[in-house]
Amino acid sequence: MNDQLIDNFGRQITYLRLSVTDRCDLRCTYCMAENMIFLPRKDLLTLEELEELCGAFIARGVRKIRLTGGEPLVRRGLMGFIQNLSNHLDRGQLDEITLTTNGTQLSKFAKDLKSAGVERINLSLDSLNRETFQKLARRDALDQVLRGVEAGLEAGLKIKINTVALKNSNADEIPQLMEWAHGLGMDMTLIEVMPMGDINEDRFDQYLPLTAVRDQLEEQYTLIDTPLRTGGPARYIKVEETGGILGMITPLTNNFCAGCNRVRVTCTGQIYMCLGHSDSVDLRGAMRGENPQEALETALNRAMINKPEAHDFRINRDGTTPSVPRHMSVTGG
Ligand code: GTP
Ligand code: 5AD
Ligand code: SF4
Repeated sequence: MNDQLIDNFGRQITYLRLSVTDRCDLRCTYCMAENMIFLPRKDLLTLEELEELCGAFIARGVRKIRLTGGEPLVRRGLMGFIQNLSNHLDRGQLDEITLTTNGTQLSKFAKDLKSAGVERINLSLDSLNRETFQKLARRDALDQVLRGVEAGLEAGLKIKINTVALKNSNADEIPQLMEWAHGLGMDMTLIEVMPMGDINEDRFDQYLPLTAVRDQLEEQYTLIDTPLRTGGPARYIKVEETGGILGMITPLTNNFCAGCNRVRVTCTGQIYMCLGHSDSVDLRGAMRGENPQEALETALNRAMINKPEAHDFRINRDGTTPSVPRHMSVTGG
């Protein structure tokens, strides 16, 4: 058994977020530009390599793996990959495999996900209005996503809705989205937009602090803070009138880095120790070089030494320059 993954600030890493592709079938305006240049397929780790990599993390104490993208369900062969990964669940070496999806492919894969051992997923949805959705995602895919939600619930997946709060777009719709999600028995989490990647838009026009959303919701609803935690950065509130749970992810108004338990690995095998920093360590080179096992351990140790204490996201009135030049789709959030 290898050593646990513990960083220089004493934080143990038990949660791996693995991006299996940088591609996506949507183009959400806060996430991507319309014309993205995606990675050539040869640069991607193969599914076998991804499995090997997950094994190395699990051997060093990772208990939860979240698959992300881009959109993870557009990666070919993903169901077989998850099935193989779930052997670790059966052996008690892993507590959870989950994924974050935009839902467009979910009606096709919901049943397979459930039978491969996935119990709950996060689904990103920012509007229930067809026009707003189309404007935001630059694709007319709301119906497809709603069919995905239906199929997911029918298959017995627990779904949490992730909604990015956007001043210039879905701000007025948040109560309605919440009522819809809670009405279907789904939790919902609101996310503050983070300045990641060049998107040809001013972030300041998008940024809506969740403190303002909370004030607005409190005019209509009774919000009760709860101590509930899922190991993620969200703080959870119970909404008395709907009986549902509302999460808030507030990287800008309330920094949560002290309790960070996670790292991110991209589909090319770069490990990012923080969502808000550009620093990464190349695991693919280690895996494809000489003495791969030893090289991978050394690379993981280096990643732990280099994990920064906190992110430094800022959104300024004066600039469109992102705090992190990398798009969210590289690491999947
Ligand atoms: P679970 O507890 O696993 O359900 O995770 P969660 O509630 O944190 O939700 P999820 O992991 O889906 O994260 C939702 C979004 O929160 C991500 O897509 C990111 O945008 C943001 N987020 C998650 N982790 C971090 C983090 O470490 N730092 C920052 N700044 N944002 C994060
Ligand atoms: N800021 C905040 N959230 C973002 N997401 C994508 N880009 C950003 C950003 N710049 C969200 C998506 C999805 C998750 C993967 O990250 O909406 O919920
Ligand atoms: Fe695709 Fe998710 Fe980015 Fe939207 S936020 S473009 S669904 S990766």
